[in-house]
Amino acid sequence: MASPPCSNGTTDDTLLGLPLVEPTPHAWVEAVLANVPRVLGDHAHCELKAASTALSLMGRYADDLELVLDLCALAREEMRHFERVHQVLVSRGLRLPPVGPDDYVKELRRRAQRGLVGQVSLDALLICGFVEARSCERFRLLARSLRDEPLRAFYEELALAEARHHELFFSHASRRAGADAARARTAEIAAIEGDIVRSRKPSPRIH
Ligand SMILES: [Fe+2]
Ligand SMILES: [Fe+2]
Repeated sequence: MASPPCSNGTTDDTLLGLPLVEPTPHAWVEAVLANVPRVLGDHAHCELKAASTALSLMGRYADDLELVLDLCALAREEMRHFERVHQVLVSRGLRLPPVGPDDYVKELRRRAQRGLVGQVSLDALLICGFVEARSCERFRLLARSLRDEPLRAFYEELALAEARHHELFFSHASRRAGADAARARTAEIAAIEGDIVRSRKPSPRIH
């Protein structure tokens, strides 16, 4: 049975298992449903950025074999996701749009890393984990809101992948920094991320 709606119209179980403290406002779902082509184009770029972030982290954590191997597999998987979203665009007579600004991720990085010295290395992994977690929540919302059955099933499947990816980043952060340090920093970043989501104007983009 579905959870009762929160005050903003989303439901509790879209956040299930995720470190997020702020549910996406229902106005975001409305903005997305009003412009599905735009969100598909934005989503394709999100997959490309996820792949390129994984590749750049491989260089940054080059001495951590376990992490490098996982990032290698992640970059491949994100590229497969990009190909699939691109196929969806093409099958609908759409093209990959020019890349848009990345305000959510930039703001998250800027605010989470402000004033930090020793935690920057931990933050890079946790911030990636939060981006995956927010994508997971929003794909769950898309899976339950879209009327288009193939697209709904597509987002249901991708929400599972994003849940897996957020766990990957948090488990490596925890392994490298210790469970207590990672948990404490996760709670701090969750508050910042929630504040950013609350303050952003809903638009037909993934973040
Ligand atoms: Fe992906
Ligand atoms: Fe992902």
